Amino acid sequence: MPLPPDSVGSTHFAEGAAAADWWRDAVVYQVYPRSFADSDGDGIGDLDGVREHVDHLVALGVDAVWLSPFYPSALADGGYDIDDHRDVAPELGDLAAFDAMVAALHAHQIKVIVDIVPNHTSDRHRWFQAALAAGPGSDERDRYVFRSGRGPGGDQPPSDWESDFGGPAWTRLPDGWWYLHLFAPEQPDLNWDRRDVRDDFLATLAFWADRGVDGFRVDVANLLVKDLTEPLPDLAALATVADGNHAYSDRDAVQEVYAEWRTLFDRYDPPRMAVAEAWVPAHRRARYARPESLGQAFNFDLLSAPWDAPTWRRVITENLDLSAESGSTSTWVLSNHDVIRHPTRYGITAAAGQPNAIGYIPGFGVDPDITVDEALGARRARAATLLMLALPGSAYLYQGEELGLFEVAEIDAGQRQDPTFFRTGGTRLGRDGCRVPLPWTSEPSSYGFSPDPASAPPHLPQPAWFADLSVARENGDDASSLTLYRRALRLRRELTSGEGLTWVPSEPGVLHVVRAGGWHCLTNFGPDPVPVPPGELLLASGPLVDGSVPTDTTVWVRGA
Ligand code: NOJ
Repeated sequence: MPLPPDSVGSTHFAEGAAAADWWRDAVVYQVYPRSFADSDGDGIGDLDGVREHVDHLVALGVDAVWLSPFYPSALADGGYDIDDHRDVAPELGDLAAFDAMVAALHAHQIKVIVDIVPNHTSDRHRWFQAALAAGPGSDERDRYVFRSGRGPGGDQPPSDWESDFGGPAWTRLPDGWWYLHLFAPEQPDLNWDRRDVRDDFLATLAFWADRGVDGFRVDVANLLVKDLTEPLPDLAALATVADGNHAYSDRDAVQEVYAEWRTLFDRYDPPRMAVAEAWVPAHRRARYARPESLGQAFNFDLLSAPWDAPTWRRVITENLDLSAESGSTSTWVLSNHDVIRHPTRYGITAAAGQPNAIGYIPGFGVDPDITVDEALGARRARAATLLMLALPGSAYLYQGEELGLFEVAEIDAGQRQDPTFFRTGGTRLGRDGCRVPLPWTSEPSSYGFSPDPASAPPHLPQPAWFADLSVARENGDDASSLTLYRRALRLRRELTSGEGLTWVPSEPGVLHVVRAGGWHCLTNFGPDPVPVPPGELLLASGPLVDGSVPTDTTVWVRGA
C-alpha cells in the first residue's frame, strides 16, 4: 500500500505481528532493580520484589521488562561494573529467584530483556584480577587495554582521553602501567580483538537466552572495538570523526561482533531481540539496528529535544526514515536511569546543554539560578508521553515515570552514589536523583518500598513528596499520571496497526499525526487553544479548555 506523500515509516509490518517481531512496537518498561521493590527489608530492591509486583506491570499494560544489571557488583557504577555476568548479586537474589521472576512475567505474556555490558568488566572480575597478578606484557593483561605512560618516567596518561564520568580515562597501577577505562576506574575496558573475550560474551548471551530471556539491551554498543595504534589521537582530533574511523567509538569493525551475536540470537525460536545503546550520530544508528546486527537501536533524540513543535517534527520524521532504512523500528525514550526525569526536565527554567544527568546542568539542585516549575513540567511531560506513545515503533518507559515522578534533587553529598558526582567534585550531580526507590504507598518510612517500617532505610533517601505520587495514591484517581499511562497503553494496544504515520497539515506550534485506522494524535505546543480533531475523543493529557486543546496538551481521537 503506497503511503500518502506526507507520510513516513514503512508499511510492510501490518497487523498480527509474528511472535518473532513482538519487539517492533512493544512498550518496554525499564526496571532498575535496586530501586524497584525490596522484598526482604534490606533497603535494596531485589528480584523477588519484581516478582511480587508483576500485577503492577500487568495493570499498566507493558509488553516487556528490561532489567538494568542485577549481577554481582561492587556498585562503583550502579551495577554497570560487573563481577560475573552469569550470576545474580546476592543482595538481589539468586538464579532461582531470577527464574521465578521470569516465569511470573512470562505467565502474563510479559517478555524479559536483560542488560549486557560488553565494553568493560568490573575491576573485581576474575580476568582483571588475573591481569593485575600476571604483570606487564602478559597474556592476561592483553584482555584489557594496558599502556605505558607519556613524559619523563611515564607519569602522564597515555592520552588526554576523558572518562564519561569526568577525569582521565586512564589509571596508573603501582607497577607504572596505565589501563583504559572510558567510565570509572573500577570499569576497565576489555580488548575486543581477543577471541576469548568474544567467545566469553557469546557464552554469556547463550546462558541467559537458554534461561528463557527474550532479549538483550546492549550497553554502550558503540565502544567495544578500538584502534589503539600509537600515537593515540588527542580528544580534539577525535571530536570530528564520525565515519567509522574513530579510535574507540562506532568503528565499522564493531559490527563484526554483532554479526556473530545475531547468528547466535537467530538460533533461538523465536530469535532473541537486542537493542543497542549507542550514542552515535543519527545517520550511524541504522548500522546497529539492521536485522543482521542487533536489530534495534535506541534513539535518544527526544531526550535531547527542547519542547517545541519543529524540533519534535524533525526528530520524528528523521527517526522513522532511519528505521525504515535499517529495516527496524524506531525506539522512543523520554526517561531512563541516566537522565533527569522528564517532568523535571520540562520544568527547568534556565538550562543549556544536554539533558543527561551525567553531563547536564552543572549544578542542578546546587545552582540557585536553576529553578523547576513543576506544574509546567508535569503538564508538558504528560503531553510528551502521549505523543511518544502514539508514534510507530517501540516505547521505552522508565520505572516511576508512570507515577509522574520528578527528579529527586534533595540528596546529601554523603548519600550520593554516582561516580559522576565524585569525579567532578560535585559540579555534576549525576544520576542518583532518578534512581530513588519507588513509592508504592504513601506511608513513610519507605513508602511501601520495603516490607515494614523496621526495614533498613532505602539505599537512596526518598523525599516527603513521594507520598503524593505513590502507586496507592494514584491508583483509581482519574487525574493521576498512573491512570493516564494505563489508559494510554490499553488504547495503544487496541489502536496500533501498521508502522506508518501521516502528518495532518496544522498551524505552527501544533503537531497532528494520524495512524492507520484513523488514530489521530494532536499536540499543542503553542500558546493558544486549538480545536480537537473531529471524531471520538479517546484521551487527553490534561483538561480541555472550552472544548479546545490548550497549550502543552495532547489529545488522541478516533477519526470521524
Ligand atoms: C551506559 C549505562 O546506561 C550507564 O548507566 C553506565 O554508567 C554506562 N553505560 C557504563 O556502563
